[in-house]
Amino acid sequence: MHYFEYKNGELYVEDISVKKLVQEYDTPLYIYSAKTFKRHFKAFDSAFEGLKHLTCYSVKANSNLCILKLLGQLGSGMDIVSGGELFRALKAGIEPKKIVYSGVGKREHEIREALLADILMFNVESEAELIKINKVASEMNKIARVSLRINPNVNPETHPYISTGLEKNKFGIPEDYALEIYKLAHNLSNIEPVGIDCHIGSQLTSISPFLDALDKILDLYLKLLDLGIKIQYLDLGGGLGIQYKEEAPPHPIEFGKALKKRLQNKNITLILEPGRVIAGNAGILVTKVLYTKKAPKKNFIIVDAAMNDLIRPSLYGSYHKIEPVIQSSAQQTIVADVVGPICESGDFLAQDRKLPKLKEGDLLAVFSAGAYGFTMSSQYNSRPRAAEILVDKDKIILARRREVYMDLINLEDNCI
Ligand code: LLP
Repeated sequence: MHYFEYKNGELYVEDISVKKLVQEYDTPLYIYSAKTFKRHFKAFDSAFEGLKHLTCYSVKANSNLCILKLLGQLGSGMDIVSGGELFRALKAGIEPKKIVYSGVGKREHEIREALLADILMFNVESEAELIKINKVASEMNKIARVSLRINPNVNPETHPYISTGLEKNKFGIPEDYALEIYKLAHNLSNIEPVGIDCHIGSQLTSISPFLDALDKILDLYLKLLDLGIKIQYLDLGGGLGIQYKEEAPPHPIEFGKALKKRLQNKNITLILEPGRVIAGNAGILVTKVLYTKKAPKKNFIIVDAAMNDLIRPSLYGSYHKIEPVIQSSAQQTIVADVVGPICESGDFLAQDRKLPKLKEGDLLAVFSAGAYGFTMSSQYNSRPRAAEILVDKDKIILARRREVYMDLINLEDNCI
């Protein structure tokens, strides 16, 4: 459910016309709906009511400060994977005690920054990392709270690039070694093991892989209790999918129900790290048709957004619904590739897509672009990054101004 709707044939975000936004802010333009973000966060978070829990929004999905602030005001914690994300979360006023830090390659300075901020815990992904955190914590005379991220070898049945809980993936500690590493953690001077963590993948469209992973984690939880290691937090990561095309992912209520059933008698706090399910359908990317072109085998609609703005179709073959911002009454359609100006054949937003006949200057909305859209954008081909707008009812916030040419070379001042 989102608040991008057609009114009299024209696309609106909440109370604001998309066309009007483009007149003022140009294209390519990311537009987010505050009401949708709020709705998604509340729907997700309230699905776990009755269970001690903390929802830690996964910053990587959409890390705009305005979005982080908005979610923080609703009580969200944050799941971070870098010093940069910690910096953003703190700038957005997120309480450090609601921040969990995941990722396989935490650097020393990042560990130091997180200890200094006194975050809730590190999700540790290897023995070597655990030892490094202990070293940094002892130098700082601090105790680091940690969860060990377990790789439960569960198939999330999603795109291979976003599967993370299989034996062959780089993530987490194999379940067979988990007990051994917990014992080590327990004995390290500046480490306090407080949780068990896992994250098996992203864009999951069924609950059963989550439950398989949870069962393995609960099993470990009981074994640790026997050893006298009292775990307070179970972190199940993120991964709940959204509808891009015809997928039918479970509603958070269903997800919540299934988890509650397994956890109701346990004296633990559940942590969840949703990203896409909060942000995905809360944003669109608006682009303008530059040219149309007929080649022997294909029609092309060349637009001003490219793989540097939204890489998901090129990288994962992902489907994003594309619709004209102004609906036309003409019935004529074409089948075409929607492509950007970048010099790569892999630069497309859609392939063989049936669309109404379009002409130069027409605006297209690329839906479900709120998660892993702007955050994965780059300046490839020296294209300044798009602007981001947050609409809240009839209020327009320029959440990130459009980059200008100087932003391309600002850090190269030694060469000017
Ligand atoms: N927690 C951890 C440790 C993660 O690695 C991720 C995502 C999440 C939480 C949030 O997962 P979500 O709820 O958003 O599924 N760029 C890809 C997605 C990569 C996901 C990486 N990790 C895409 O565009 O589909």
